[in-house]
Amino acid sequence: MLERIFSRYPVDRTSLVMILQDVQTEFGYLPTDALKEVSARLQIPAAQVYSVATFYNVLSLVPRGRNLVRVCMGTACHVRQAPLILETVKRELDIEPGDTTVDGEFTFQSVGCVGACAIGPVVEVNDIHHGHMNVNKMKKLLDKLEQSAKDEGQS
Ligand code: FES
Repeated sequence: MLERIFSRYPVDRTSLVMILQDVQTEFGYLPTDALKEVSARLQIPAAQVYSVATFYNVLSLVPRGRNLVRVCMGTACHVRQAPLILETVKRELDIEPGDTTVDGEFTFQSVGCVGACAIGPVVEVNDIHHGHMNVNKMKKLLDKLEQSAKDEGQS
């Protein structure tokens, strides 16, 4: 199942993170069978593979929505109204942080500092930083993402 990914790297423990990233990209998450296969192939104990898989925010053990919305709740963003933005996303998507909408369009996360404090409060959508965020901008951004999902659904 993962031969194409294994062929890109030396098959040893130094490749673990890169292989997991590629599995994440290929499947949108890290399926259990894939983790077992990585463990067997790299000869790394499964517990260690799971430990790495749960350490990095970019990796996920559960399927994610097509859009990953991450609201920064680090200190610099927190003092600049990030909690209001978090509440807006919760209300607009009708889900809690860590959840995915039933239509599979959005996964919503509350995260620590994403390294862009100067433009806080920051929301990261599909790895792109959106700075100086406020409630209105957040609503518009979610509306735009929902609209593009509808447009793609019609084409
Ligand atoms: S605290 Fe939000 S980017 Fe640093």
